[in-house]
Amino acid sequence: MDSIKWAVNQMPKTDDSQLPVMALTEIQKARAFHESFPQYTQTPLAKLDHMAAYLGVNQVFVKDESYRFGLNAFKVLGGSFAMARYIAKETGKDVSELPYAVLTSDKLREEFGQATFFTATDGNHGRGVAWAANRLGQKAVVHMPKGTTQTRLENIKKEGASVDITDMNYDDCVRLAAKEAAETERGVVVQDTAWDGYEEIPAWIMQGYGTMAAEASEQLKAAGCERPTHVFVQAGVGSLAGAVVGYFTNLYPDNPPTFVVVEADVAACLYKGAAAGDGKPRIVDGDMQTIMAGLACGEPNTISWDILKNHVKVFISAPDWVAAKGMRMLSAPIKGDPQVTSGESGAAPFGALAAMMTMEEYKELRNDIGLDENSKVLLFSTEGDTDPERYKNIVWEGKER
Ligand SMILES: Cc1ncc(COP(=O)(O)O)c(C=O)c1O
Repeated sequence: MDSIKWAVNQMPKTDDSQLPVMALTEIQKARAFHESFPQYTQTPLAKLDHMAAYLGVNQVFVKDESYRFGLNAFKVLGGSFAMARYIAKETGKDVSELPYAVLTSDKLREEFGQATFFTATDGNHGRGVAWAANRLGQKAVVHMPKGTTQTRLENIKKEGASVDITDMNYDDCVRLAAKEAAETERGVVVQDTAWDGYEEIPAWIMQGYGTMAAEASEQLKAAGCERPTHVFVQAGVGSLAGAVVGYFTNLYPDNPPTFVVVEADVAACLYKGAAAGDGKPRIVDGDMQTIMAGLACGEPNTISWDILKNHVKVFISAPDWVAAKGMRMLSAPIKGDPQVTSGESGAAPFGALAAMMTMEEYKELRNDIGLDENSKVLLFSTEGDTDPERYKNIVWEGKER
């Protein structure tokens, strides 16, 4: 069994110029936008009291994104808000003037016309973009990396997008989407990662993810937890992690929680950067075979990297068994706790928490993070069973993949 690896963050700090991307005022706008959707409901925050006692911490909360807009993952929050902000900018408006009813009105359609939104995806982001494009009367073109399952492709096709599975990895699909957008009239790349020179849309996507963090912070308070002491978040390119870490840093500027980032070991670009320690990002190349499809990205988001470098305590590189363990434990909770249907990328942080609290060999990791009986831990189950066959294989059949 491969081991969990980790790096305690000792990278040099920067001037934190990206933190304002996640300013609370911006996140309020994102939240108001999402709340204007007829499909909107807050996703549940599962409170796992018995599990917390079993693991030896004070409280464990899991935000369950399998309920998000009927799409089984949090990702739609990003793509939809970025498309709204893009349309707002093009029509000279503020996004607060464009709630769902206005965005989908004939008047706005006449004013803005039709663009084609290009993107690359492991599944969840592309489904969110296709879903939003469909509702907003826009076109979407989606490219998927090799190894993607047919179910994920069908879910995107259902939304009327043009979609294919390429023979490339995720990062090369991103380059393809960007190239095609540049060659297409009114082509816009709406990608869930930033690189030098492409920062505006990914910043909006991160703000969209802020809705999830803002809901969680309110739900925590309602459940009697004024402030989490620890926040675990998973990362592919790190947009989500940057969003969550940025939001909670802005919410608790004087006393931020301890942040822990969890990646799939074959795609652990952020962990590698942290382990190198010089503050420069690292890139992971190749096929990146992992059950954590949503985390199989090897090139960090440049905006997020800056936020993470300044605020994360520990970066974890997790083998597949960690995610599988998390999926099984969340699906079969201790009696009295709620059940969470958590997919491979959704369950990795919980699996890591469970491993470090119960396995002697990870005692040092637990200590490095500072987890004990007083800790109140917030985690995000970012997807449900987005690959239902694999979910059954792992959870019901006890298989590895
Ligand atoms: C379910 C799920 N969780 C987490 C992530 C990671 O997000 P990011 O690539 O922004 O790090 C993804 C990305 O696609 C995902 O689909």
